[in-house]
Amino acid sequence: MIDKPDSKRKANLGLLWRMMHKYWYYGLAGLVTMLLYALFSGVSITLVIPLFDFVFKGRSQPVIYNTWHGFLAAAWEEVLLFFGQHRVTLNPSSFEPLWARLQDLMRLTDPLALLYSICVFVFVIFLLKNIFFYANRMFFVALRGRTIRDLRKLMFGRYLSQSMDFYNQHQVGDAIVRMVNDVDTVSNQFIFSIFNSIRDFSTIIVYMVIAIMLNTRLFLYSIIVLPLFSLTMNFMGRKIKKYSRRIQGQLSTMFSVVEEVLNSMKVVKAFRKEAAEEEAFNKINRKHLRMWQRSMAYSSLNVPISEMNSAITGILVIILGGSLILDPNGHFSLGNFTAFLFALFSMLHPFKTVTQMYSDIKKASVSLDRIALVLNQQSQVADAPDAVDKKSLDSCITLENVCFSYKPDKEVLQNINFEIKKGEKIAIVGSSGSGKTTLANLLNRMYDVTKGSIKMDGIDIRKIKLDDLRGLFGVVGQDSILFTRSIRDNIAYGASCEVSDEDIITAAKVALADEFIQELPNGYDQILQTKGSNLSGGQRQRLCIARAIVGNPPILIFDEATSALDNISERMVQDAIDAAMLDRTVIIIAHRLSTVVSCDRIVVLEQGRVQCVGTHNELLQNCKHYQELHLHGDESE
Ligand SMILES: Nc1ncnc2c1ncn2[C@@H]1O[C@H](COP(=O)(O)OP(=O)(O)O)[C@@H](O)[C@H]1O
Ligand SMILES: [Mg+2]
Repeated sequence: MIDKPDSKRKANLGLLWRMMHKYWYYGLAGLVTMLLYALFSGVSITLVIPLFDFVFKGRSQPVIYNTWHGFLAAAWEEVLLFFGQHRVTLNPSSFEPLWARLQDLMRLTDPLALLYSICVFVFVIFLLKNIFFYANRMFFVALRGRTIRDLRKLMFGRYLSQSMDFYNQHQVGDAIVRMVNDVDTVSNQFIFSIFNSIRDFSTIIVYMVIAIMLNTRLFLYSIIVLPLFSLTMNFMGRKIKKYSRRIQGQLSTMFSVVEEVLNSMKVVKAFRKEAAEEEAFNKINRKHLRMWQRSMAYSSLNVPISEMNSAITGILVIILGGSLILDPNGHFSLGNFTAFLFALFSMLHPFKTVTQMYSDIKKASVSLDRIALVLNQQSQVADAPDAVDKKSLDSCITLENVCFSYKPDKEVLQNINFEIKKGEKIAIVGSSGSGKTTLANLLNRMYDVTKGSIKMDGIDIRKIKLDDLRGLFGVVGQDSILFTRSIRDNIAYGASCEVSDEDIITAAKVALADEFIQELPNGYDQILQTKGSNLSGGQRQRLCIARAIVGNPPILIFDEATSALDNISERMVQDAIDAAMLDRTVIIIAHRLSTVVSCDRIVVLEQGRVQCVGTHNELLQNCKHYQELHLHGDESE
């Protein structure tokens, strides 16, 4: 994957934004609680000022307030008076008159009573601070959880809507990694990082304001190492991103291998390739480890670097601030200095998380790109804007000069012309690889023709609603693909709307499946094992036939439906097919001719071209290819 230009990145961020902004109320509630948290964090540290400057200084003036509640009541009155008299702005200096009044009050209070008052304050403020912290967390959890859910929903929808072509090119493991791991990374490191960093930034700003108010010069000294620090961070960010991209790619490969191998267990075991597969997997796994370690080597540097930055800053401030206190003309009290140090060190912690976040965001933006790639993927086969409804086949399906190729350089089908009339039974025969399955796949738009057109009652199928078009076909393929669900659900799968039990049983009876289903321990409620392994091949195939006809589609396609079966099962399935064919337009694909002799017409396909069309007897007389197939067919039986 190549590096995206900036505009693309912004578009991807926009995508994330669109996913989140409908939950703006959680975001807003989160922000408000976050700001309150930052505010109370700031207030909590200013409490050390009276501790050092009034409590520990001892009593020097006449005492008016002897108890902690006496002081608190007086302080509360001052606060009310202040807010009654002054116009309060966000500017911290507007609070100065209040602060001066409170200082006077503290001088008139017994130190021990003041100490108790401060403790009450400390408790209340920490309680509030932590309540807001928790609320903030919960609001963001709600926001993040919903965003993840929506993102996965959207991605799965996109995967479902892709054409078969997409699945020829993309592996399932890759999709899983994108949907699970990448979504997780984005939500963990992006959404949380963004909001945590807002909280941390606001905390930093609150502490910064306090530090500046306490001593501006000292504050300026304390940020002297910042430029060097940000340069290092920038360098590391680029490295982390590079490795993250490789790591996610490796992960996709890894899961694709796992998926493929586990799905082909029978072959792996039969050919004793367990060790070889293990080694192949280990190789990818090791490579992933190497990448991961390199990326972690950079991202773990974050904390030490920012810690060292804090240490240097701290040392500078202690030296400079310390000498200010010792200087009699310094006008810097011990209480102020202690508060300054508190503010500074409290600022350094969120600062550290902000730098950590920086590398997280770098990682997450790689994952966001990978997600966006899926979401922006348009299906090759989709509804035309002016697509029309079509619920029945009225006269015929016409193929006009149909050409098709999977890859640009190799034509699989060339200039196919023929017509399938309503009610006809058409067979397509030809040797393996001649393009029969491909041709069938074009009829219900698993792929679109490259040239020419397929028309249904004169309407190009690309102008028919995809859903309607596919609803007209019932398809039974060579390998019976069933789901790990009940037999009932597997049959009902073939209908687009709810079907009654009666319909299901009728379909099963036509497909000659009812009898063996009744004999299963749970009958129609029997849950199939993975890939239907608790049924025989012939039974699975008959279930597939029941599934194909349950929705009562006017056209049936059987693509070598019996070729994987033994003779006895084949006979049963063939009977089922014959029963299902009644009153329908049918396309039977076969390479064994015994199954197609009774068809109305037979199309002989070789190397992607129609060689001859006719009935069995006609073709036997005048089609060389058919005669050859006939000979070979007889040999194999
Ligand atoms: N998904 C695909 N991608 C690329 N080539 C394909 C794909 N499926 C089939 N082909 C090629 O198209 C040709 C026709 O295949 P197919 O329609 O499956 O033949 P048949 O069903 O007659 O055995 C073959 O040469 C095959 O290699
Ligand atoms: Mg085939």
